[in-house]
Amino acid sequence: MATLHRIPIAALVRVLCIIYDSHDRIATADARRGIHRMSSLKQTVLAARSRRLPSAIYFEGDALARAAVVECARIPHCSFESSDPARLDEENIFVVADQQLFAEHIKRLRAPNVRVIALSDERFRDVRLDSTVYAYLPGSVSVTLLERMFDNAIDHMHLVQTRREANDKLALANSEIYELNHIGAALSAEHDTRELLELILTKCREITRADAGSVYLVEEEERGEARGPVCDQRTPRKYLRFKLAQNDTVAVPFGEVVLPIDETSIAGYVAEHGSVVMIEDAYELESWVPYSINKQFDMDSGYRTKSILAVAMMNPKNETVGVVQLINAKRNWRACLRTPEDIENEVLPFSTRQMEIVSSLASQAAVAYENSHLYENIHRLFEGFVKASIGAIEQRDPTASGHSFRVANLTVAMAEAVDRDQTHFRDVKFTRSEMKAIRYASLLHDFGKVGVREEVLVKARKLYPEQMEALRSRFDFARRTLQAESCERKLAHLLEKGSEEYLRELPRFDRELAARLDELDCFAEFIHASNQPSVVPEETFAMFHEIAGKRYRGWDGSVRPLVTAEEVRLLSIPQGSLDESERQEVESHVDRTYEFLKQIPWTREIRNIPELARGHHEKLNGQGYPGKLAAAEIPLPTRLMTIADIFDALAAADRPYKESVSVERALEILGQMAANGEIDPHAYELFVQAKVYERWKVDCFEY
Ligand SMILES: [Fe+2]
Ligand SMILES: [Fe+2]
Repeated sequence: MATLHRIPIAALVRVLCIIYDSHDRIATADARRGIHRMSSLKQTVLAARSRRLPSAIYFEGDALARAAVVECARIPHCSFESSDPARLDEENIFVVADQQLFAEHIKRLRAPNVRVIALSDERFRDVRLDSTVYAYLPGSVSVTLLERMFDNAIDHMHLVQTRREANDKLALANSEIYELNHIGAALSAEHDTRELLELILTKCREITRADAGSVYLVEEEERGEARGPVCDQRTPRKYLRFKLAQNDTVAVPFGEVVLPIDETSIAGYVAEHGSVVMIEDAYELESWVPYSINKQFDMDSGYRTKSILAVAMMNPKNETVGVVQLINAKRNWRACLRTPEDIENEVLPFSTRQMEIVSSLASQAAVAYENSHLYENIHRLFEGFVKASIGAIEQRDPTASGHSFRVANLTVAMAEAVDRDQTHFRDVKFTRSEMKAIRYASLLHDFGKVGVREEVLVKARKLYPEQMEALRSRFDFARRTLQAESCERKLAHLLEKGSEEYLRELPRFDRELAARLDELDCFAEFIHASNQPSVVPEETFAMFHEIAGKRYRGWDGSVRPLVTAEEVRLLSIPQGSLDESERQEVESHVDRTYEFLKQIPWTREIRNIPELARGHHEKLNGQGYPGKLAAAEIPLPTRLMTIADIFDALAAADRPYKESVSVERALEILGQMAANGEIDPHAYELFVQAKVYERWKVDCFEY
């Protein structure tokens, strides 16, 4: 019975030293990189002890080979027949002289972990044998030469092994780089912070086959949150917010909580030091570590947290923006960890390589997160600017307050209904960018009113209030003048004819005065009625002509027109409160909106916002303004906006020049407009059927 030759003690000590030394070097490098590793050196040492040098094996029947090998005292050796079959799968060196025995066992000897040293003065003729031989040595080989060839064969095996491992590592590194690039591209394409965090955690878990994980973000306390003196200038305190958790085995009851950035928790420790923590078993922490594990979740859910990898998300300024914590690396990505046996069989410690990859991914994630945060801030900034601008415009016309927001609510709701529709609009699908364009275009559709004079914008009657006031004063003056003139005539009559005659004629004087005052009142009443924005009846134009000829005497005796030509012109406006130039000025808000919106550097996806907004007063029959566009030239989002705009103008609260109508009446009027070919009948139908109008005062989603 042959015995296995063990590695000499000195060699074992040297191997152990190398292992300890490499462990020390890893530990030093880890310390330099801020890696806090909780791994077991014991296992590494045990693994090292089980290593052995390859044996020299010979066949019992091969006397020449046997004699040569046995003579080499330095080489561990045994016969093929006596060797442990399990050992034959390891690295071995066969020394063969007998070609027949060689041929019998050729299959075993052609293994990649076997080298064959042939003792023969010439090459074997059998090509299969010859090609299997690593080296030929003469049958009378010396011990020294055989031992040297044995060493060379070992080196050769290790060289091939090392090359294979290097190739494997290279292939793995290539695939990891590809995967990291792929993930990096996905991360930078995601601007929604919530989606981004989900993506970061999912990818970190995929790449490490982690069963669970969570993401924490560093947040600063808001101004005013800090206690203490009002003038406290200290740096705002930071803390960690638990933002996201994933677990393949159990459902995680999630709630956002905050943790201090300190050494009491693993995430807090990692955030404070900008480091990495790797733990093989969370329930067997070394006594010297400052942090502890909160086992409450495990106790509540029956889960078992074992291996942990926690990595800081560092931005390019070397600031920690968050922490990714991964739990329970698995052998098999699909495995569920329901029982203690599952944990025992499936859970592995996280490897150094995994830690490096997750660190790299976490850095990319930190940049992507900061970008998404920046993107959100820009979005919020722009959103705030848009809302403030709309507020400023609507302040100029308080009766239109909220109009732009309600039009946006309705237009977006209609676009969503179009998206869902399976009938006329079944082929129409709006992307998120298109929805964003629709929302901004409808929010800002009347922005151009900023360029319309305020008195025109809010003009409720045909005459401006100050014109009406002047007219009223003039009529008062004319009345007073008539009274004064009547008094003068009475006095002159009294002086000339005496009191008796005067008293007799007095009623006549009074009747004349009353008639003239009645006439003035009649004119004043007519003017008041004509000043309304309603349609002027045809027959009243004669009255305007009569009023235009009326005169009164001024304080200096000059004769002046009672109603100026300009006042008559305005009062003669056939419909509404605006004359032609004023109407054009109001209508110019559309072009002003377009010019204003064109100056904003919209991103490529939403650059059609100015065009969408410009068409909101166009009509499908070509009777709209400003372009009198034909139906085919009016995009669908604009048609939706037109319906929303008209509905709100009809049904919103009373305006000075127009009373509001009920929702039902507004729908009737819109129905009439659809029948007349002014607005899109299919969009109108959807507006009614999907009850879009009910979303009138419900804030739309902020695409
Ligand atoms: Fe408008
Ligand atoms: Fe409008």
